[in-house]
Amino acid sequence: MVRSRILGVGRYLPERAVSNFELEEMFDTSDEWIRQRTGIEERRFADEGVYCSDLASEAARRALENAGLEAEDLDFIIFATLSPDHHFPGSGVYLQAKMGLAGIGCMDVRNQCTGFLYSLAVADAFVRVGMYRRVLVVGAEVHSSALNFTNEGRDVAVLFGDGAGAVVIGPSEDDSRGILSTHMHADGHFADKLKLDIWDISKKPYITPETLTNGDIWPKMAGKEVFKHAVTRIPEVVESVLKECNLKTEDVDLFLPHQANLRINQFAAYRLGVPEEKFYSNIESYGNTTAASIPIALSEVLENGMIEKNHLIMMVAFGSGFTWAASLMRW
Ligand code: ACO
Repeated sequence: MVRSRILGVGRYLPERAVSNFELEEMFDTSDEWIRQRTGIEERRFADEGVYCSDLASEAARRALENAGLEAEDLDFIIFATLSPDHHFPGSGVYLQAKMGLAGIGCMDVRNQCTGFLYSLAVADAFVRVGMYRRVLVVGAEVHSSALNFTNEGRDVAVLFGDGAGAVVIGPSEDDSRGILSTHMHADGHFADKLKLDIWDISKKPYITPETLTNGDIWPKMAGKEVFKHAVTRIPEVVESVLKECNLKTEDVDLFLPHQANLRINQFAAYRLGVPEEKFYSNIESYGNTTAASIPIALSEVLENGMIEKNHLIMMVAFGSGFTWAASLMRW
């Protein structure tokens, strides 16, 4: 069976940067509080009228350009997001239409912070079995429309930003390079710890006047619990992937963790015995962009020359569900 590899990477961040100081003007918070607890200094917010598939479309265009491919070369689209354009149909079909690609298959993956890695695993499997040769995997989010910018929502509102990252997956001509292994996990017992309640199909109708005013339209998070589980699951899944590949943490050249919170990643790096400079961070500039954070980070480190041929790259994420996953690749 052939291996798959990433043929091209692209990112797109909306232009509008929103600093912690701007948030101070909206509700009771401080730059110091946000930096100390999360590492975030600013985030990007998309303008009114911009859809998640719009950000994805620009990131996809750049990934194709980076791969030296045309949109028509794609065989399939996988779109990871927790902030889709509409509840249905999925954002994948909107993206496909914007790219002028009528006909090819599209699939949405609703796995929040691990959405990109779950999607990558699916694309990897498609390519390995020879089902598709060129798969576009996009992670994109417009969080800024669904954050509660008041004191009640401040714990969550300070964390998130908008953005998109995309990769094109295809067969690797060299069997030793490409995606080596991906492990995915979930524990639905913690589904209520980080969630959005507004859509509740058990209610008739599923959205009531009451749910519009009782706070259900905003995401809710048990922050301490998320933190506690993240710093356990991240090292655990990294170690299980390395074990399967007969490798050690020292062998990894660069870790690209999901950018949920700088403190989570510092703690996870410490537990793994990995120096912090090997655990890439850009959360200070973008906040948490959920499914987009890993492909955005990948695109940045490639541009900065931090990745060379044959480097071992470990991507890892933890998030709502709870779900967690790690994927190791040789560049
Ligand atoms: N600004 C100022 N004060 C705040 C803010 C804010 N934005 N948010 C909460 N506070 C207050 C609280 O009201 C509380 O005040 P009180 O003591 O008077 O009650 C105080 O700060 C401490 O609140 P805690 O919730 O206990 O704060 P904690 O130290 O746990 O930090 C945080 C909160 C940063 C969210 C932390 O729990 C955390 O990092 N959790 C991980 C969650 C995370 O990163 N999620 C990302 C999304 S999920 C993912 O992608 C994995």
